[in-house]
Amino acid sequence: MSVADIRSAYANYADWIHRFEWADRLFTGRYRRDRFGNVDGRVLDVACGTGTNFRHLSETADLVGVDISSEMLAKASDTLAGLEVDGTLRQMDAQNLEFTDDSFDVVISSLSTCTFPDPVAALQEMVRVCKPDGTIRLVEHGQSDSRPIAWYQERRADAHYARMGCRWTQEPREVVTESGLSVRDVNTGLFGILTTFEIAPQGV
Ligand SMILES: C[S@@+](CC[C@H](N)C(=O)[O-])C[C@H]1O[C@@H](n2cnc3c(N)ncnc32)[C@H](O)[C@@H]1O
Repeated sequence: MSVADIRSAYANYADWIHRFEWADRLFTGRYRRDRFGNVDGRVLDVACGTGTNFRHLSETADLVGVDISSEMLAKASDTLAGLEVDGTLRQMDAQNLEFTDDSFDVVISSLSTCTFPDPVAALQEMVRVCKPDGTIRLVEHGQSDSRPIAWYQERRADAHYARMGCRWTQEPREVVTESGLSVRDVNTGLFGILTTFEIAPQGV
C-alpha cells in the first residue's frame, strides 16, 4: 500500500482505535512503560497515532508527535489535552521528516515500522533527526513464537495488510539489522510478539 492508501485506512479507523485504546494498553502498556517511561528532553514520537505513548513520558518532556493521518492526530490532540505534557503535533511522513539533523534528544516510535512502506528509510530518518548523544527507542510487533498465535497471524496476514497496511508478521529485529543501526538493548515479550529496542544513533 502507498502512503496515501495508509493515510485513508487510518482515517477510517481512528475513532475505533481511540475507543479501544484501553485494550491496547492492557497488552502493550507494560512494554511501552519499560521503554518510554520517563523519557525527557526534546522528544519526537514518530507515527504517534492517537498518542498512546504520551502518558509514559516525563511531565517535563518537550514533545513533538508526528503522524501521516490527520484523524489520528485529532485523537492525539485530545490525549495531549488530558495530560501535563507540553506538546505539538504535526502531519508528516515518517520517511521524510521535516526536521533538521540532530533536533531531538530522544526519538520514540511504536507499532509503526510494520506500516511504513519503507521502514528502513523511516529508521534512518529517526537517526538523522536524533542528536548523536541521544537515543532512539522502539516498541514493535512481529510474529509470535507461540505456534497457535503464529498460525493465526499467518492466516490473517494478507487480510490485515489489505485493511490497515500493516505487515504484522514482519520481524522487527530484521528491519533494525537491515537499517544498520547500533542496538544498545533489545527485549522480546508477549509470546514473542513485541520487541523493544534502545538504539544509539551513532553506534555503541
Ligand atoms: C498501528 S498505528 C500505531 C500508533 C501509535 N504509535 C501506537 O503505538 O499506538 C500506526 C500509525 O502509523 C501511522 N503511519 C503509517 N504510515 C505513516 C507514515 N509514512 N508516516 C507517518 N505516520 C504513518 C498511522 O497513521 C498510524 O497512526
